[in-house]
Amino acid sequence: SLPVPSIQEIVRNDPQAVPERFIQEHKDRPVFLDIAPVSFNVPIIDFSLLAKGDEDETRKLDFACKEWGFFQIINHGVAEEVIHKMKAAMTAFFELSLEEKMKYSQTGNDFQGYGQVYVVSEEQKLDWSDMVFLMTLPPEIRNLKYWPVTIPGFKEDMENYSAEAQEVMEEICSNISVLMGMDRDGLKRFHGKTRQAIRLNYYPPCSKPDLVLGISPHSDSDLLTLLLQNEIPGLQIKHKDEWFPVNPIPNAFVVNIGDVIEVLSNGMYRSVEHRAITNENQARMSIATVLFPYDDLEFGPLESMVDEDHPRMYRKIKYIDYLQYTFGKKMEEGKGNVDI
Ligand code: SIN
Ligand code: FE2
Repeated sequence: SLPVPSIQEIVRNDPQAVPERFIQEHKDRPVFLDIAPVSFNVPIIDFSLLAKGDEDETRKLDFACKEWGFFQIINHGVAEEVIHKMKAAMTAFFELSLEEKMKYSQTGNDFQGYGQVYVVSEEQKLDWSDMVFLMTLPPEIRNLKYWPVTIPGFKEDMENYSAEAQEVMEEICSNISVLMGMDRDGLKRFHGKTRQAIRLNYYPPCSKPDLVLGISPHSDSDLLTLLLQNEIPGLQIKHKDEWFPVNPIPNAFVVNIGDVIEVLSNGMYRSVEHRAITNENQARMSIATVLFPYDDLEFGPLESMVDEDHPRMYRKIKYIDYLQYTFGKKMEEGKGNVDI
């Protein structure tokens, strides 16, 4: 991974700066006219109803996963205080001086720590964001040297948030399991133990938001992602060749299907491409919690998802090989946005 300047620092030194390396090729620029109306929203699911087994809500989940690959959840039961403290801990981190933040920088080929997305070449266009990537669960995979212990309460706030996010994601997986024709634990039995990581994304304002991307288009290589965004819009998802905004709803989570569930479902549920755009005035922050398998899990379409009408669409592959395959593909395309 090549060292990349902190975009937050560049903007802090010169709010007008838009360095060449951040300017996207014409075809990749966010063309604001192409974007569907702001009033649009992906399906909104009431988690409390889902957890009670409500049939309409379960049908809505099924539709959302098939049609959009994205949905938002409200009434998820995660205490406002836990969310608030997590956001405050993140804000505190990005308010540290560059020197202080650099104490938690990614080292070598480690994905964990403070830095930018994986950069593979000097020519690569850079995303208008800085981030912190931390493994969170199970606790033994944490590497505390990347955790900003100088921020009071950071570890505890992160742990509480991580635990609550895990519960929500597991409930969603149980529902998906049933929708795939298994019992609530079917998916869990298949993938066994999972890992969780949290990625804190910081998008500073940009004086020319139509030239850059906060995060370039990608799909997530995990089972499921749970995203918390601040009140600043920016996330967009691809649907029928158009970019649709996913507008922030206070305290709601955005959930999206990752590549692994797409494969397990034999393509019934879709891992959808998404990106984030920037704006001129306000920094945007998002917190992505990703649920992903261990390296040695071999996965392919589940038996329950394959029949005469639904022939097998994916071959079986080990998770680690899958990651290498997708990362390799992105590197060939000269894109560095390799994230789980
Ligand atoms: C991500 O895809 O990891 C982040 C998306 C966002 O910030 O909205
Ligand atoms: Fe993503």
